[in-house]
Amino acid sequence: MRLAAVADIHIKKENYEEDIRRFSTVNDLADALVIAGDLTNHGLPNEMTACLRVLEQIRVPIIAVLGNHDHESGHQDELAGMLRVAGVHLLDGNCFEVGGIGFAGTKGFCGGFSPHELMPFGETGIKNFVEIADREMVKLDYGLAQLHTEKKIAITHYAPIKDTIVGEPEAIFPFLGSSRLERALSRHKPVLALHGHAHKGTFSAVTQDGIPVHNVALHILRARKEEHPFVIFDF
Ligand SMILES: [Fe+2]
Ligand SMILES: [Fe+2]
Repeated sequence: MRLAAVADIHIKKENYEEDIRRFSTVNDLADALVIAGDLTNHGLPNEMTACLRVLEQIRVPIIAVLGNHDHESGHQDELAGMLRVAGVHLLDGNCFEVGGIGFAGTKGFCGGFSPHELMPFGETGIKNFVEIADREMVKLDYGLAQLHTEKKIAITHYAPIKDTIVGEPEAIFPFLGSSRLERALSRHKPVLALHGHAHKGTFSAVTQDGIPVHNVALHILRARKEEHPFVIFDF
């Protein structure tokens, strides 16, 4: 099983013809493609239409989660529907199996990293914020729990650990991910966790339990001078 992965492709309604050419190389190089969120730039339906022009050239199964940019214009449900109608396996607390490997995913949320996470204390606004982060943890936990494959892969947009966002300004670390997602990983021990969102982050690190985590944001792959706009993992 050769798995291609990328995040943060941020496709706009203009200039996507070059993306069609670059992304369609995945057909010859991988058995499935993961896109870990921020498929569009501002979450607009016409951007998703452009994105689907790119994705419809891809013949291998595509497994995706939405990112915060896909929520920006409040059309996230419409965008999710467009992806599902196009045959993309969009994960939002659910799971999908292909080639003997199980995938579970959700967008995730921010809130910071242990031991300095935001806790649900004080104002209602803070409690509501933390509740969203908790809900995303539960969705990832539930999706992973549904899988019965020997090998599981977790997909989020936000980072489950701090070490793969290193490179971003430290002041914004709490807005780039949440240790709550790492706790879901610890419970189910996937062989790999993929995320994006931190465009200037670090490609590779491990959780406290030794689970490999990769930040596959397209900007990081470009900085690594990857030949293609995705990276390949072999299983
Ligand atoms: Fe992004
Ligand atoms: Fe993002």
